[in-house]
Amino acid sequence: MSQRSHAHIRDFHDDDLEGIVRLWELSHDRGETPVYSLAEVIASCQADHAVVAVSGDRILGAAVGRAAHAQGWIVFFRIDDDRTPALDAERIGAALLDRLERRMAPLGLGKLSVIVSDAAQGVPHLTGNGFEVRHHLRYFERPLPVQRRELDLLKEVGGRILPRRLWHNVAGMAREKLLLEERLVTPLAHPELAARYGVLPPRAVMLFGPPGTGKTTFAKAVASRLGWPFVEVFPSRLADSPAGLPAALRQTFEVIAELEHAVVFIDEVEEIASRRRGDPPSPTQGVTNELLKLLSEFRELEGRLLICATNFVRALDAAFLRHGRFDYVLPIGLPDADARRAIWIRYVPAGVVDGIDLDALVDASEGLTPADIEYAVRRAAQDALAGALQGAPVATTTGAIVLPDVDESPVQLETRHYQRALRSTRATVSKSAVRDFLEDIDALARL
Ligand SMILES: Nc1ncnc2c1ncn2[C@@H]1O[C@H](COP(=O)(O)OP(=O)(O)O)[C@@H](O)[C@H]1O
Ligand SMILES: [Mg+2]
Repeated sequence: MSQRSHAHIRDFHDDDLEGIVRLWELSHDRGETPVYSLAEVIASCQADHAVVAVSGDRILGAAVGRAAHAQGWIVFFRIDDDRTPALDAERIGAALLDRLERRMAPLGLGKLSVIVSDAAQGVPHLTGNGFEVRHHLRYFERPLPVQRRELDLLKEVGGRILPRRLWHNVAGMAREKLLLEERLVTPLAHPELAARYGVLPPRAVMLFGPPGTGKTTFAKAVASRLGWPFVEVFPSRLADSPAGLPAALRQTFEVIAELEHAVVFIDEVEEIASRRRGDPPSPTQGVTNELLKLLSEFRELEGRLLICATNFVRALDAAFLRHGRFDYVLPIGLPDADARRAIWIRYVPAGVVDGIDLDALVDASEGLTPADIEYAVRRAAQDALAGALQGAPVATTTGAIVLPDVDESPVQLETRHYQRALRSTRATVSKSAVRDFLEDIDALARL
């Protein structure tokens, strides 16, 4: 180290790759959280702008940049301080930054930026070369759940990434949400934590309950919460395949097995997994058998979850619900008062909700599903709008519809509108269906 290094600064060429890798690992070993991965840095060395400091055949330092419109980013900057005396390091650092800047200047950049970890070594070089620390900034990042190579597979099975907010948008249902959060989301999102407690991440769950209570909504919300692609399998569509439904199902699951992560959803699963009956067996028998086989193969793979939903859990094949196939059999029932309140608040327009007697609506909507409440809200809104337009005749000139001047007047949407809409909303779930559901919970639920 006493020996002075006569470094020479030049543009990067491919032979320098090994040296770049070594420098990157050096940063890594020193606990400097790199913002750009090694792959990114190498890509930029080859496709963007990179300069190196060399002494003999040794790479003593490197600076790598890329341009994004008018802003340049330094994606890597490191001096090998093991092999470079401090005094030289200062000189080499400055020369590397100068050279990179000169290389990138012709691109018409307005500024050159760099993000470094708290522990980064190069900070004095940066400030010495005129870079200023920008305070009050924070760096955020989010790994995207689907890599480019997976996109084709996803497309093949009709999978998609759902918006992030779906979980948040499920109003109320606090008990169900907590249960799903504890049983599904946490162990799947944090398998190491689950393993420390000896909790096995679930592979398959069954959601059951009357129609319109939010089973599909929850399945999507779980995918959104995990940030995993959502793949809905439609047996009715697969049935059209020339290979036949069982083979088409198998093909679909084979593609799903290649994905890194997935939430797979089969709605109305009773249609393909209903109780086996009679001799000769029903035509769905073969499908049910295939599904049982697929399910046990599916359970072998990590990073994916099968969610099945049914309105008729008691119609399901007993083998299907046997232990070891579905980790949980979870009831999704009618919303309680808290949930109904949250659902009303979610659907009533924000500018209107303050003037509404929510208690009255929560009471009046007992026994309704979220879907029923949504329907009532929409109906009230339509009636109120129609009412507002009434008496202000719609003039049509040259075929164009000219709305009367209701834009400016306050929205006339009151509790009574909702009450009237509720009176004409039929509960989807009858009293006897509620009784059946409670029986099903006793007989079949597994929390
Ligand atoms: N907790 C909830 N908050 C807000 N809207 C909901 C909620 N649950 C269901 N909905 C709405 O009700 C409708 C029916 O829900 P869905 O999930 O399709 O029911 P299911 O699959 O149980 O038949 C959907 O439009 C959905 O957006
Ligand atoms: Mg549904």
